[in-house]
Amino acid sequence: MELKNKKWDLDKFMEFRKEVLQQWPTGKEVDLQEAIAYQKKLGEEKIMAEKLQEAKENEETLIQPRAGVALIEEHIELLKFLRDKGKTDLLPTTIDSYTRQNNYKEAEAGIKESSDEGRSMLNGFPAVNHGVINCRKVVEALDAPLQVRHGTPDARLLAEITLAGGFTDYEGGGISYNIPYAKDVSIEQTLYDWQYVDRLVGYYQEQGVRINREPFGPLTGTLVPPSISHSIAIIEGLLAAEQGVKNLTLGYGQCGNLVQDVAAIKSLEELAQEYLKDYDNIMLTTVFHQWMGGFPQDEAQSFGVISWGAATAALSKATKVIVKTPHEALGIPTKEANAEGLRATKQLINMLKNQELVSNTKLAKEKEMIKKETKQILERVFELGAGDLAQGTVKAFQAGVLDIPFAPSKYNAGNLLPARDDNGAVRYLNHGNLPFSDEVVEFNKQKLEARGEEEAREPSFQMVIDDIYAIGKGMLVGRPRN
Ligand code: 5AD
Repeated sequence: MELKNKKWDLDKFMEFRKEVLQQWPTGKEVDLQEAIAYQKKLGEEKIMAEKLQEAKENEETLIQPRAGVALIEEHIELLKFLRDKGKTDLLPTTIDSYTRQNNYKEAEAGIKESSDEGRSMLNGFPAVNHGVINCRKVVEALDAPLQVRHGTPDARLLAEITLAGGFTDYEGGGISYNIPYAKDVSIEQTLYDWQYVDRLVGYYQEQGVRINREPFGPLTGTLVPPSISHSIAIIEGLLAAEQGVKNLTLGYGQCGNLVQDVAAIKSLEELAQEYLKDYDNIMLTTVFHQWMGGFPQDEAQSFGVISWGAATAALSKATKVIVKTPHEALGIPTKEANAEGLRATKQLINMLKNQELVSNTKLAKEKEMIKKETKQILERVFELGAGDLAQGTVKAFQAGVLDIPFAPSKYNAGNLLPARDDNGAVRYLNHGNLPFSDEVVEFNKQKLEARGEEEAREPSFQMVIDDIYAIGKGMLVGRPRN
């Protein structure tokens, strides 16, 4: 494997495709030219890039749930329900865990068990096993764009089948679907496998088919400082653009402090535009994820968390928001609970759509610091790769220059400790090997010391623990006397 941030030539790509399509019998259903013709016939209402572009132009925030069950008819019914009763703008298809592990045999058993039991025995939709024709049944039954949402380190066959099946958006990336999800898959391997996915999307694009790509923004979902997730989002955006991707949605997971969260979405868009300037005709949009960490058990409290995320998404003018449900603490939501999360969110979006968080010095300062931190990280990544971003990324993870808090991967240094400051913004308690300037280190230190004073304790690991559980217990900042 020779990993370089360089567009794969067509021969190499076509050679790899043969092998990928043999990984499961449904791979035979993919005929790329026929799939392109099929995609071109889809109505505009089913094309994610069209919907996102329109929302961006109108400064609207669209809503999208997560949802997926084992069987085709039940999956269609679920998605129709979320359109009718949840008034969702965009549709997902969440893929089950076996498929994410490329374990199609177990997925097959799960499909059979589900039809025997009369209920879903998988935690998502096994799209590879269902194949191209069945994916098209889902697409054709619905009047909104469908995105594949998963968490798959090697997502090549899944991409082939779902894109041929009429899905118009594909989530994930070589870092964001590895480090938070896998223990021992090398970054080199996943970057390579995701170059394939991006090359496939690039190929569709060259033939006039708009497929949107969305790196997974929130990563581990808990206390991830914006400059960490921004660095990863921009790297994955650049790697995708090199392979020919033109429609990109970059994401960020809510931390909980309004000013920091709005600054995060604004700075993400501005930074990404700056870094992507060498690629023509990129349609860049943003996604804000409602809180991805631990939720309260109580449904009323959960609606509080959901609504705060909805308000923040609206005020940040993110292009779309991924919505949580009042069942978050319990597991996979019922369709009713899923629709409730959507309706609560839509209410806030509608109420706030013509309002904006007024620019002020606090917002400007947050944006400035997020940009500084992100640029310092990215600069070192480029340096480590001697100009090659893919090589730089591999080396940066080895060196702890890229480091994701609370990740299971053995390829991640795991030296970082994030904690909230006195206003609930997420700061670096320990920045590990991140290449930060003295100014940045001092800024973070002062913010945490100010909280320490308020709580009459030294900033320490105990703060981190307290913060991880705080929202689940009904607070944002994990104070000693909660
Ligand atoms: N349907 C709905 N939500 C799901 N999630 C995972 N799988 C599904 C599914 N099949 C949600 C979890 C969590 C998030 C990461 O994804 O509940 O909110």
